[in-house]
Amino acid sequence: MTQDELKRAAAEAALEFVGDGSIVGVGTGSTANFFIDGLARMKDRIRGAVASSEASAHRLAAHGIALFDLNDVTTLPVYVDGADEIDASLAMIKGGGGALTREKIVAAVAERFVCICDASKQVEALGRFPLPVEVIPMARAQVTRALAALGGRPLLREGFITDNGNIIIDVHGLQIARPVEFESTLNQLVGVVTNGLFARRGANTLLLATPDGVRRIDAD
Ligand code: A5P
Repeated sequence: MTQDELKRAAAEAALEFVGDGSIVGVGTGSTANFFIDGLARMKDRIRGAVASSEASAHRLAAHGIALFDLNDVTTLPVYVDGADEIDASLAMIKGGGGALTREKIVAAVAERFVCICDASKQVEALGRFPLPVEVIPMARAQVTRALAALGGRPLLREGFITDNGNIIIDVHGLQIARPVEFESTLNQLVGVVTNGLFARRGANTLLLATPDGVRRIDAD
């Protein structure tokens, strides 16, 4: 199977978590795009979706799926999204597509986070994938120094501005032994909007696509 076929298989499996009449939290990225395309087939059974990026909002709208503002929604039964890396505790690195802040906000409102991945995303320890950090532009130099002091190799994502008007610094060379603690440490840096560690609120369920089928793994 190709990687795209695996991504599609994980995305299709996530459709079973979508309840009739619900509003669905929708992530961002190539795997989430397969989920959006699958959601389109059942759009008459749902009320609509909350998108975690402008890109996903456009794709949902193109399929005729109603979009809701997160501020008008008290709770979402499920949020479905991909990941750049995921470990055994279902902590993740996200933000390869730069949508980490909105993803983290929508995920925070959801009762269940369903992560959809192909098996290449599963890792023993997070950090091989450069950790994205969204930063207020005027804090770029200061945050870069602080990230280097924490042991990483920060690199500005050239020519990229987030949906929120900020920059992304990708931190290379990290070995993240304690993701929950490290997520909090990064959150304390003045000028950091969000970091791409999703450990304090990790996934509840991982749908991991392998050539032998989609495995469901639930957090403890
Ligand atoms: C977007 O900002 C990311 O968090 C994506 O969800 C993540 O990068 C996974 O993307 P792919 O499904 O394209 O690998």
